[in-house]
Amino acid sequence: MNEERLLNSQELPEDSSLEGGLRPKNLSGYIGQKAVVDNIKIYIEAAKKNGRQLDHILLAGPPGLGKTTLSQIIANEMGVNMFSTSGPVIEKKGDLAGLLTPLQEGDVLFIDEIHRLNPAVEESLYPAMEDFRFDIMLGQGREANSVPLPLQPFTLIGATTKTGLLSSPLRDRFQIVFRMDYYNVEDLETIVKRSAKVLGITIDDAGALEIARRSRGTPRIANRILKRVRDFALVKGNGDIDTAIAKFALNQMEIDEDGLDQMDRTILMTIIESFRGGPVGIEAIAASVSEERRTLEDVYEPYLIKSGFIARTAKGRMVTKKTLDKFGIKANEIQGDLF
Ligand code: ADE
Repeated sequence: MNEERLLNSQELPEDSSLEGGLRPKNLSGYIGQKAVVDNIKIYIEAAKKNGRQLDHILLAGPPGLGKTTLSQIIANEMGVNMFSTSGPVIEKKGDLAGLLTPLQEGDVLFIDEIHRLNPAVEESLYPAMEDFRFDIMLGQGREANSVPLPLQPFTLIGATTKTGLLSSPLRDRFQIVFRMDYYNVEDLETIVKRSAKVLGITIDDAGALEIARRSRGTPRIANRILKRVRDFALVKGNGDIDTAIAKFALNQMEIDEDGLDQMDRTILMTIIESFRGGPVGIEAIAASVSEERRTLEDVYEPYLIKSGFIARTAKGRMVTKKTLDKFGIKANEIQGDLF
């Protein structure tokens, strides 16, 4: 179910081929995230003026907002190579050494999901970040000693969807931290139009707006929906996208006006009907909707919270007045202590 979910902001296999061509290569093609982009420009210019590598950068924020894209753009703008990996893939210290030692001066090492590094690997990253040094252990037992291996000065760009899970020693070693937030509808509309152009799809303003409004502030989702709407346009129309075909396609896909899909609505209705609107623990919701707790927390909940349909309180999750209004339910019809 989860794998097939159109609104899942996690990267799916089909995205890499889709996103490959859609990803802007330079900052000038990167839309939105203005505060982040403005600062990056300064740091890139300063690093170039100093003739030094960029400081280590941490990119934090929900999945699908373009952290990998931005990282590749930074490497392009600096005129260096980027090597890409992910926290859980680096199993042993030796794997990390294999990634660090080939880096040339100024190169970028991008580690996605950096909060999922194993502790031994994470620890050996510290001297690499601070002193561009990798300590290898030679020999065993009493004979063992640590030999420092010098590295070229490089830039680590770490991406995380969970800043809370990052250890503080690791977080503190990033000199630059950017928090990326969901995109506004206007920026998403621009992204949809840009993607349509790259893919050779004709779309009018209203059609792009309709897709943007229902894409949960996430470019990855907007691009995915754009492709699906294009399929509807090809079969039901002449291939061009306008509001009517966009609305038709989105309704067929059961993505509503708020960008919520069937599962989102099931979660909200479960909290209302089975738990009187909450507060209720995440485990209880997970059991009721037959989904894993982690999936609820990582995939469904962030946007429901961000858009104000669920509130997280010390006592558990609650629906809000906005949720009741959406479903046309009056507060006195449920007996939870709704605020
Ligand atoms: N694709 C994904 N994120 C993007 C962005 N911020 N600008 C342009 N295209 C994108």
